[in-house]
Amino acid sequence: MLLPNILLTGTPGVGKTTLGKELASRSGLKYVNVGDLAREGQLYDGYDEEYDCPILDEDRVVDELENQMSEGGVIVDYHGCDFFPERWFHIVFVLKTDNSILYKRLENRGFPGGSEVKASAWNAGDPGSIPGSGRSPEEGNGNPLQYSCLENPMEGRAWGYNEKKLKDNVQCEIFQVLHEEALASYKEEIVHQLPSNKPEDLEDNINQILKWIEQWVKDHSS
Ligand SMILES: Nc1ncnc2c1ncn2[C@@H]1O[C@H](COP(=O)(O)OP(=O)(O)OP(=O)(O)O)[C@@H](O)[C@H]1O
Ligand SMILES: [Mg+2]
Repeated sequence: MLLPNILLTGTPGVGKTTLGKELASRSGLKYVNVGDLAREGQLYDGYDEEYDCPILDEDRVVDELENQMSEGGVIVDYHGCDFFPERWFHIVFVLKTDNSILYKRLENRGFPGGSEVKASAWNAGDPGSIPGSGRSPEEGNGNPLQYSCLENPMEGRAWGYNEKKLKDNVQCEIFQVLHEEALASYKEEIVHQLPSNKPEDLEDNINQILKWIEQWVKDHSS
């Protein structure tokens, strides 16, 4: 049976992992967390001093995932989406959280300094600048802001308080950086925004995606 590949993206803290794991357990699809995959395989290429985190080796991540993605039936979770092959995904969901809610969620995390930063953030200019001001023709995707590495902290490591990272990530959400990145990387008609503020949103999103999967499977069975 053919099964679709689903991308869950959005700013750190919007709820990709929460949705992805629950969706995987209810749909039977496989779940891949790119941050975890990179940590396990040390798929890094250098270190970002400013953000105090390793830089993701995007090519190695793609190589690592290629086989499973061509089989289908994979839910991919990552706070970036412009380096995956477009052909991998049948649908892309960009999760969205209101600023004040996201701010509290990230604050509750205790400001991790770890995780990885996208290679493109390397040249992104000042991620704390206001939209537009950071734009320049040389910038790959033209994003005014880049999200900072502020994923879930790894256990047992003491994270330094870094309010700049938190603000960068909230700004990333305010300016819809990931939504723009998704629209620039995939066909508009397969990119959907999903609200992710409250538990009912999670439930609604799961039910909606389960229905979509069911329909996709019907449409692709011969
Ligand atoms: N729909 C929701 N309603 C309320 N809280 C939520 C919802 N979705 C997620 N959360 C909570 O928000 C926090 C962040 O969620 P999660 O770790 O899934 O985000 P993420 O997008 O995977 O972040 P990261 O990119 O950093 O890994 C968790 O504490 C989670 O319980
Ligand atoms: Mg996550």
